[in-house]
Amino acid sequence: MSTLERAPEASGAPLSEFNPLDRQTQACPYPFYKTMRSECPVFQAPQTGMYYVTKYEDIRFIKRNPQLFSSNMVPTDRAGLTEAQKKHAEVFAKYGWSHVQALQRTDPPAHDRWRKLIDRTFTATRVNGMKDYVDEMVHELIDAFIDNGECEFVHDFCIPLPCKVIADQLGLPRDEYLSLKAWSDAMLTPGGLMATDEEIVQCAYTEVEAQHFFYKVFEDRRKNPKDDIMSALVNTRFEGEEPLSMHELQNMMNQLITGGNETTTSALAHAMWNLLKNPEQMAKLRADRSLVKNFVEETLRYETPVLGLFRKATQDVELRDVTIPKDGIIFMAYGAANRDEEKFDDGEEFDVSRKNAGAQIAFGMGAHFCPGAMLARREIYSAFEIILDRMEDIQLARPLNEFTHDPSIFLHQLTELPITFKKA
Ligand code: HEM
Repeated sequence: MSTLERAPEASGAPLSEFNPLDRQTQACPYPFYKTMRSECPVFQAPQTGMYYVTKYEDIRFIKRNPQLFSSNMVPTDRAGLTEAQKKHAEVFAKYGWSHVQALQRTDPPAHDRWRKLIDRTFTATRVNGMKDYVDEMVHELIDAFIDNGECEFVHDFCIPLPCKVIADQLGLPRDEYLSLKAWSDAMLTPGGLMATDEEIVQCAYTEVEAQHFFYKVFEDRRKNPKDDIMSALVNTRFEGEEPLSMHELQNMMNQLITGGNETTTSALAHAMWNLLKNPEQMAKLRADRSLVKNFVEETLRYETPVLGLFRKATQDVELRDVTIPKDGIIFMAYGAANRDEEKFDDGEEFDVSRKNAGAQIAFGMGAHFCPGAMLARREIYSAFEIILDRMEDIQLARPLNEFTHDPSIFLHQLTELPITFKKA
């Protein structure tokens, strides 16, 4: 049984025991990250061959040099694919739309084509105008369990909030939010490197189901544009540029659906988890509500929802005395950089009044900086403003299961968080 003790995060752990494919390690990689930062900041994990880059400044260097570290991860040679990956690709070719490289999987300047479109649709004005709407959604979700004095916070709150918001933003029916979650899981699972071959192929079939749904919505929005992102994606034209193809549109949907819910669910759940683990910080926040904004940054820093993302070396590159060979895969460990003691004093401590919490890089940095960051911050801020108003004496209802997190080498998702509370 796992509890809320803090010991595992306090000290370094031997790298000989680091296994990114092990679920206990995935749940709490921080003691290993700490050792990596001090002893071996660019560390090649033998199980996957990936190079873990753990220092804040080194990740900044990678982000500034896309010509050396590419976001295009497609193997140049199909022979490099596993049988399951080949079957996965075949399902799309046969029944849906094959994956093409767009936005997140491209490098500047090609990346600009898709990014301009996203920036035009995810504007500050649009997100700033969403406060009342997000507040209302938060209240609605809390109304459903407030009289019970208990809830399972992940499934009753953290999953539906971002799923419903992104469904609305994309112009998809809000009631379809559980399908949206299933589709998003199917899109993300293969990259987590923890699925069986059968599961990987099944994920392709589930994603194809999503693609056919999106296809109908796109065709509808072509004829009947609405004030939603799907209409903008299908109808926006930039001078001298071709409209997006259906393959590109499908790929953009894949990124918006996955980017828009899984990460924010994790951030919301870990925000609560951090407060439960640190009751003195919860008390501090209740005593001074002006700290909520900083708490949002600190929770993203301390329990980074996307533990890391990948880049591919375009040539042999030297980083901290380690030669990463051409085509070597780099894991930019955001979760490690966000606790880098050279950037954050007492980085292993959760402190809602930390001065430079806003320097966290949970949303990445540079050309691929998360376009949904403002929206995610809006949701977490509204959620905790209202939770602190409406719920008192929040406690963990029982010890958590042995595996606290879903299996994945790069995502960080709590499986459950049962809580009790008193209605304020
Ligand atoms: C707490 C919540 C979130 C976290 C931690 C997060 C994290 C990230 C990170 C680290 C990147 C950088 C990718 C890279 O460098 O390759 C990214 C990009 C992206 N995110 Fe988010 N994200 C969040 C919320 C959202 C939301 C709400 C949306 C959409 C509604 C979204 C959509 C995207 C998209 C489309 C990209 C690709 C941008 C590009 O490549 O130019 N994300 N996100």
